[in-house]
Amino acid sequence: MVTNRTFTMLKPDSLEKGNTGAILEKINMAGFKIVAMKQTQMSKRDAETFYAVHRERPFFGDLVEYMTRGPIVAAILEKENAVEDFRTLIGATNPEDAADGTIRKLFATSISENAVHGSDSNENASIEGSFHFSGREIY
Ligand code: PPS
Repeated sequence: MVTNRTFTMLKPDSLEKGNTGAILEKINMAGFKIVAMKQTQMSKRDAETFYAVHRERPFFGDLVEYMTRGPIVAAILEKENAVEDFRTLIGATNPEDAADGTIRKLFATSISENAVHGSDSNENASIEGSFHFSGREIY
């Protein structure tokens, strides 16, 4: 299992608001190396599969609609302690609870449009990275 990588998505609201460059700069400045990256759009089936673990939660339908309404930027990031450090960098799920200077505090609109995704474990980072990237797209 790779323990120094995490997976992220810049969600549709980030691209709609023109925040892609600013968010990637924050990620770079925090010491993460981008080892794979692409702009893509998830289908309904993609989003339902990616978020399947949350399918019983009340917001599932809204989450799928939001994540499929426009393009995202998907990336695999490398850094020591990547999963935990990236979750710290992005801040709490609800931007109202996010610490000052975090990506969600700076760029998210609300708990349902919260700008970025970050894997919550090494195992999920590997699964989620493989969902979006083939081996030869990762450097
Ligand atoms: S987390 O980050 O997984 O610990 O957060 P969690 O609360 O378990 O949320 C799981 C994903 O659902 C998103 N989310 C929501 N979407 C829409 N509406 C509401 N109310 C809501 N609450 C949580 C949350 O951003 C998580 O998605 P990702 O892509 O992992 O950030």
